[in-house]
Amino acid sequence: MNHGEKNPVIATRRDFLKTSAIATGGAALIVPTGFSSSLFASGDDTIKVGLIGCGGRGTGAAGQALSTNGNVKLTAVGDAFPDNARGAIEGIKGGLGSKSDRVQVSPDKIFDGLDAYQKVLDSGVDLVILATPPGFRPIHFEAAVKAGKHIFMEKPVAVDAPGVRQVIEANKIAKEKKLKVGVGLQRHHQAGYLETIKRIKDGTIGDIVTLRAYWNGTTPWDPRKTREQCKTEMEYQVINWYYYNWLSGDHICEQHIHNLDVCNWVMGGQDAEAAYPVRASGMGGRQVRVDKKYGEIFDHHFVEYEYKSGARLYSQCRQMGGCWNSVSEHVHGTKGTSNPGGNIRGAGIDWDFKDKQKDAYQVEHDDLFAAIRKGTEYNEGDNGAYSSMTAILGRLCTYSGKEIAWDDAIASKVSLAPKSYTWDSEPPIKANAEGVYPVAVPGLSRVL
Ligand SMILES: NC(=O)c1ccc[n+]([C@@H]2O[C@H](COP(=O)([O-])OP(=O)(O)OC[C@H]3O[C@@H](n4cnc5c(N)ncnc54)[C@H](O)[C@@H]3O)[C@@H](O)[C@H]2O)c1
Repeated sequence: MNHGEKNPVIATRRDFLKTSAIATGGAALIVPTGFSSSLFASGDDTIKVGLIGCGGRGTGAAGQALSTNGNVKLTAVGDAFPDNARGAIEGIKGGLGSKSDRVQVSPDKIFDGLDAYQKVLDSGVDLVILATPPGFRPIHFEAAVKAGKHIFMEKPVAVDAPGVRQVIEANKIAKEKKLKVGVGLQRHHQAGYLETIKRIKDGTIGDIVTLRAYWNGTTPWDPRKTREQCKTEMEYQVINWYYYNWLSGDHICEQHIHNLDVCNWVMGGQDAEAAYPVRASGMGGRQVRVDKKYGEIFDHHFVEYEYKSGARLYSQCRQMGGCWNSVSEHVHGTKGTSNPGGNIRGAGIDWDFKDKQKDAYQVEHDDLFAAIRKGTEYNEGDNGAYSSMTAILGRLCTYSGKEIAWDDAIASKVSLAPKSYTWDSEPPIKANAEGVYPVAVPGLSRVL
């Protein structure tokens, strides 16, 4: 990019950073706006929830939404597949115990297909939970904002730069409409992180020099169906979505985003532009999980990110059995070190967060629903988009083997999305005659 040029994307980022929640440390600002709770669809104080994407997390998030204080009902569900939509209803009820009557989904409000999201949005709900594979998130988020719904959306919120920009643009409208937007980066609602990061920002460990972040573990789930068991290639990839970048963004986006997001949170301060890396480089590949059934994603990534201050973040994510595992973040300052989830060492102190912590998955819903009821400002959408972009930047580096600047990455026009979304549509990635999908080759693959 020509740095003399005004880049509309970066202008957007700077505008946002002046006022965003990030400037206050990543937690959502709670500012009264006078937005009345009597605006709910039912005309009383009942918040009607619609669930889009009825898998493991969607089901869990719906249960958490229905466990918040006040009148709340699940009134509509939508999933690509009818069995998942129907199955979620019983699953959510089962998890709610004495509150199971909060699930009130009539048969005509159970939707399936790739257009189920729109039907849920049109069904008279006040809030939607977006918990499909993330490749669909920008489309679903934009449609939900257009429909004037409050939103809880899972991370990552996009898998490529055009998707990130789509979310940022839609989120501007969400703010104008005073819609509340929560993003499933639940560490922002976890007491240990909140207290420790406050102490880091108060200067307890001095200036931050280095960060380390890990999501090293094993394969979360194996492909669920074979190609022969699916009618079309689109169906096959959507069912096995984790292994296709246009759907998952690779595991650096899918899971490691949590740790990268914490590092961004730690780096954000009064100078909010400091919160996101300015450039990165990295390496990665597919060494153990090489069977063709594992689609196109890598099984390991190492990325070195550089922040505006010059601080470096060394990031590892690996999905291999029998290796050293860790899901954690570490911050090294001029006076001490910290695991921002709950301890500080050196600097003349040896401090651990010892209070009992509530389940952050529940707290993120408690906070979102409280903001809806009180009419206070609440929007985590931009941070969700920029932390998603941080993970995408990492993937662009490991796939290409190049050093890539944030400005160039976020301005990229390379879209991973298919041209259309029907079961007969062609997915953007195709296997060869042997059923093998192309995999990125560092040094050769072009990503921007
Ligand atoms: N915050 C967290 O800690 C956390 C934990 C787990 C998952 N997640 C996120 O939640 C999302 C879902 O993950 P999951 O584990 O529940 O996956 P999952 O595979 O269990 O569920 C996804 C569901 O979405 C459905 N679906 C796919 N495409 C759809 C479409 N276009 N429209 C409607 N439904 C569609 C699938 O059929 C499936 O039922 C992912 O983005 C994941 O990263 C977040």
